[in-house]
Amino acid sequence: MKVITTIKEMQTEIKQQKSEGKSIGFVPTMGYLHEGHLTLIKQARQENDIVVLSIFVNPLQFGPTEDFSTYPRDFERDRALAECEHVDYIFYPTVNEMYPTEPSVKVIVQARTDVLCGKSRPGHFDGVATVVSKLFHIVMPTRAYFGKKDAQQVAVIEGLVSDLNFPLDVVAVEIVREEDGLAKSSRNVNLLPEEREQAVVLYKSLQEAKKAIDQGEQNPHSLIILMKEMITSNSSGVVDYAEIYSYPQLKPLEKLEGRIIIALAVKFTKVRLIDNLILDIE
Ligand code: PAJ
Repeated sequence: MKVITTIKEMQTEIKQQKSEGKSIGFVPTMGYLHEGHLTLIKQARQENDIVVLSIFVNPLQFGPTEDFSTYPRDFERDRALAECEHVDYIFYPTVNEMYPTEPSVKVIVQARTDVLCGKSRPGHFDGVATVVSKLFHIVMPTRAYFGKKDAQQVAVIEGLVSDLNFPLDVVAVEIVREEDGLAKSSRNVNLLPEEREQAVVLYKSLQEAKKAIDQGEQNPHSLIILMKEMITSNSSGVVDYAEIYSYPQLKPLEKLEGRIIIALAVKFTKVRLIDNLILDIE
């Protein structure tokens, strides 16, 4: 496994691999790897000749009051985990390598960002789309792997790849959870101990909503009230949003039909957690 810190060297290596006909699987991350990231890496390992993992905490996608400085980082631990998963290259640039000057071009996401995290985190998806576009040009992947934990991100990236004609396939991977159901996240370490216990309420309220749908509930608004009540009465978390949309279009629904996403964001003392459930309604 090679750790590469410069864009030039990464591109040179990839060009060499591609000239030998190798397929490139790419897993972009912000590091502090957990089982969710490792699942993406494992799938990339199975489906490609070469696996590239990027680790870069992208300042462009954090708002001014968000957790860029406290975002957990541990490169040595990440390096060891990547080695165990037989990653071929870790791309680990500095902020200065990725953004040597004030960006003169930014990718602005036009669709699907007026709701959910796009609404609560203005500019977040522009930052994601900008860094992911750069990473795609640097790594030139055959396939790029994203987790459904960030379902809106998957939808945005699919739009980016389609609109800007990136010659690659986006592969969406299922959410990996802790034993109690909490979606794995690098940010979970910043939960206070009692908050960690309460945090399972996100998953539980999604399951309650599903149960209500299975029992015939068709009104999205009733489900939203149900989830909000459950979260508020079982945790100290503050609901940032609890919403239901069509997926992947992310359009409002009056009635539940087709493929839908039930999505939650809840703020705890130092972290904001997200989770979602995608369902196909007959
Ligand atoms: P990060 O939060 O590090 O996540 C990297 C990838 O791992 C994303 O595709 C995310 O959806 C996936 N992932 C995280 N937790 C997961 C879980 N519990 N189950 C399945 N997949 C999971 O997402 C980002 O970084 C950044 O926005 C990035 C795309 C790297 C751009 O900076």
